[in-house]
Amino acid sequence: MTIIDSPTAIGSGSAATDNFKGERFTADTSPERLSAMASEALAGFSALIQKFGVTYDEYRVLKQWLIEVGEGGEWPLLLDVFVEHEIEDVNSRKFKGTKGSIEGPYYLPGAPELSSPATLPMRPEDRKQTPFIMRGQVTDLEGEPLAGSTIELWHADAEGYYSGFAPHIPDWNLRGTIVTDREGRYELTTIAPAPYQIPTDGPTGQFIEAAGWHPWRPAHLHLRVSAENQHPIITQLYFAGGEWLDSDVASATKPELLLNPHTDDCGRNVVRYDFTLDPLDA
Ligand code: DHB
Ligand code: FE
Repeated sequence: MTIIDSPTAIGSGSAATDNFKGERFTADTSPERLSAMASEALAGFSALIQKFGVTYDEYRVLKQWLIEVGEGGEWPLLLDVFVEHEIEDVNSRKFKGTKGSIEGPYYLPGAPELSSPATLPMRPEDRKQTPFIMRGQVTDLEGEPLAGSTIELWHADAEGYYSGFAPHIPDWNLRGTIVTDREGRYELTTIAPAPYQIPTDGPTGQFIEAAGWHPWRPAHLHLRVSAENQHPIITQLYFAGGEWLDSDVASATKPELLLNPHTDDCGRNVVRYDFTLDPLDA
């Protein structure tokens, strides 16, 4: 028997499930709140079934598909694409600093610390992409610099794979924790990310195709910015004028999160982006 160790999108999905299962989460939801939310969810389902006259065939296909989503390890992928943006919206309204966006399924805590100016670890094939340089400052809401704050950055390679979730990529590739200097400033070099297609070879992708939707997310960087006594933000940055900005399958773009890079004399894409953090007690 030949074992083919080529990366698959389904592999990334189930790696994300394994990663998520590594932690045990709890919430202090009261029985009353749980009951009210569950009743409303079921009422929504009932209304939909009545409205469309859902058939038994459709019901059985739904059951079969839900089983496949679980067996394929795609629950994190499915929920982060279609649900997380709403959770993020509800939970970020009170903040005045830099806008957040969805975390998605591929965050890993503990990326190696790099002092600024930093270059993310990358392979020779990654180096063939256009270099991308981002610099800026992290401040609090009053504009006071936050020295020693950290910017955790992670993004996909040109093929749409994230290190830690695809066996062919070295650990921590295109990931890093950049520490700001005494003025809260940072500078980092990576490669310009490409638009990202959520996996099409699993049940989530089959569903998207069956509905005639597209599976694309605009090119994006994921970031988590944190500092002592400040509320950490998880966000994403996108590229002005890029493809899929207006139809992100994960509905996670915001106008405040657009980068406008220019080309410097060395042909590199360069951009400035500053982060503002809310206080912890906000
Ligand atoms: C998914 C992947 C991403 O890279 C992202 O930013 C958001 C969602 C996903 O596959 O669910
Ligand atoms: Fe992503």
